[in-house]
Amino acid sequence: MSPFATRITLSSPDQTTAFAERLGARLQPGDVLLLEGSIGAGKTHFARSLIQSRMEYPEDVPSPTFTLVQMYEADTCEIWHADLYRLSMPDEVVELGLTEAFDNAICLVEWPDRLGDLTPANALRLAFTQGKDEDEREVALTWTCGKWAERLKGAFDD
Ligand SMILES: Nc1ncnc2c1ncn2[C@@H]1O[C@H](COP(=O)(O)OP(=O)(O)OP(=O)(O)O)[C@@H](O)[C@H]1O
Ligand SMILES: [Mg+2]
Repeated sequence: MSPFATRITLSSPDQTTAFAERLGARLQPGDVLLLEGSIGAGKTHFARSLIQSRMEYPEDVPSPTFTLVQMYEADTCEIWHADLYRLSMPDEVVELGLTEAFDNAICLVEWPDRLGDLTPANALRLAFTQGKDEDEREVALTWTCGKWAERLKGAFDD
């Protein structure tokens, strides 16, 4: 496998939560995660777990299905959670403030294919697929920006 990709098997929602917490602890402002996968793949479950693990005070994290974006004050910066499934035009992403957030916040984006040309080149891509059992998910992580090799170092060692 190339140094720009890795895979992880998550055999339950709790394992997905643990993975989200482990990755979430490493994220810094300007980090963008593109969460790919079909309906029910686990993108929101992952994002919710990550956001809640970085909050000082517990808060509900609803799916941003209709609001498209939801912003949270986390421990050291803002976390933006987007679900672009219902995005009508890519330009709407600019109006929502998401392109600015890509630079200043931690951003978790479901249905990132809707971003088109506005997809940040330095993002980490996580593609969720169904595993062999009902509660199993496979996640393929890919990136082109070198910072991710540093961020992910030792993250999946055990
Ligand atoms: N290993 C797993 N990881 C994550 N979710 C799992 C896992 N196993 C089962 N699930 C279940 O799969 C469902 C995932 O739903 P979720 O809303 O996260 O999907 P989604 O990818 O965000 O879909 P959508 O495209 O509609 O937004 C949840 O009901 C969750 O409990
Ligand atoms: Mg979702």
